[in-house]
Amino acid sequence: MTQIAVPAAPAVPAHNRWVLRALANEVGQRLLLRLCGLRYTGRRTGRPVTLPVAYAVCGTDVMVLVGHAATKQWWRNFRGGHQAELFIDGHWWPARGEVVEADRLEYPRLLAGYRAAHPHVSARTTEPIVHFVLTGAVKGKVPMSFDVTQALTAAATVAGRAPSIHNTQPWQLVVDGAVLEVYTESSRRLTELDPAGHMMLISCGAAAHHAQVALAADGWRTEIERPVADGLLARVRVTGRGERDPVAVRRLAAIDRRHTDRRPVPAEPVPAGALAAVDAAVSGTGLHLHVLRSDQVVELAVAVERATRAENTDDRQQAELAGWVGGVRANGTGVPGTAIPAEAPQTTVPGRDFGVTGTLPPGAGHDESAVYAVLYGTGDGPTDWLRAGEALSAAWLDAVDRGLTLLPFSAPAEIASTRLLLQRLVSYVGDPYLVVRIGVAPAGDPLPGTPRLPAAQTLQIRS
Ligand SMILES: Cc1cc2nc3c(=O)[nH]c(=O)nc-3n(C[C@H](O)[C@H](O)[C@H](O)COP(=O)(O)O)c2cc1C
Repeated sequence: MTQIAVPAAPAVPAHNRWVLRALANEVGQRLLLRLCGLRYTGRRTGRPVTLPVAYAVCGTDVMVLVGHAATKQWWRNFRGGHQAELFIDGHWWPARGEVVEADRLEYPRLLAGYRAAHPHVSARTTEPIVHFVLTGAVKGKVPMSFDVTQALTAAATVAGRAPSIHNTQPWQLVVDGAVLEVYTESSRRLTELDPAGHMMLISCGAAAHHAQVALAADGWRTEIERPVADGLLARVRVTGRGERDPVAVRRLAAIDRRHTDRRPVPAEPVPAGALAAVDAAVSGTGLHLHVLRSDQVVELAVAVERATRAENTDDRQQAELAGWVGGVRANGTGVPGTAIPAEAPQTTVPGRDFGVTGTLPPGAGHDESAVYAVLYGTGDGPTDWLRAGEALSAAWLDAVDRGLTLLPFSAPAEIASTRLLLQRLVSYVGDPYLVVRIGVAPAGDPLPGTPRLPAAQTLQIRS
């Protein structure tokens, strides 16, 4: 254990000295879990100052809220930024501190991070926060951010399990400190079939949501930003530590069981409670699900057929599709033959025409008990499509958790004319993003999974 060198008085007042000494041994560290040592050179005096302060860590950010700031002087040294060292986990960590007052934009985020470790602090406090950023590792030791980096790396691996249009996995994930960034990967974009990138955005939104589920299930609090600029679509930021979220724990378990099942659903009605849970999952993301009446399902079938015809007669789209579907998919992308029905199921709404015959036994049903719904929201910008992916992920995972199966039908949303039909189906109250079919999950063996790219090709860790 590193010894904490406690300077002689007057640099350290007597009442602080025992706290600093206690921080030097493990028992003391545990007892004073939320206190750390702070060492810096006084700006005005040029003298070294060492004192204990209450802190919270989030990635490489360390927050120190200054209680009764008006009566204290030390924090004023960090106005405009000042170098310091923090004694945490038995080491002095070089850090740069800067005072963040309540009128600064980042104040709410820093306060939220601080309150995660100190829940008794009022959310309405306006006391200044000294925000420290660690500026270096200590002699090859694992930096403090290790836990967060590890959690984000694990979450990025889970994000890789997300559904994506034709299993293109059109994302690049970057772990940077306490943040997971989701970028679009242009080499896996469908330029002919999805020129506006809408389905790519839904796919990346689903990946970001999967990552948030994994983090929340592990007790990490997160927030998401959707900058959607220069290829960067979303930032999932860890803001602190909390309890494991039970909803997320169930969703995480559902990620392993979730598959796209293109067979007809069994002739068993969807339980109203389970459907309500899926609807609530969508509402929870700020979007909506419009369940179609039986006459509207016929209109949907017409829209799907029209969209399929349009795609089938476009040679460039057909050529692009052929590169992503059928066969064994040894490179880890695309829809393998094992996930494509061996013959078209006899259903009112036709399934996706992949232009190739698969090996999946189609099953005998006719989808009569299936529920069709349009996922919609208010907005047609990139952020809205990204959010649609988050809603799709939440709905799909909760459906699986409730013993249901969900199948996206994106063809009618991919083409402008058929998307207008979807708009009519939602009575022009919003912008449609996707159609989903919901049914009771077929009994029997689970479907074989679809392949995924190795994490090395989709994940980068910046440090
Ligand atoms: C935005 C989006 C659109 C999709 N559209 C369809 C579709 O129209 N028809 C279909 O059969 N599957 C569709 N899928 C499912 C994907 O093909 C599937 O997620 C992918 O092949 C990976 O397989 P998995 O879901 O079994 O992991 C879609 C998925 C997403 C995210």
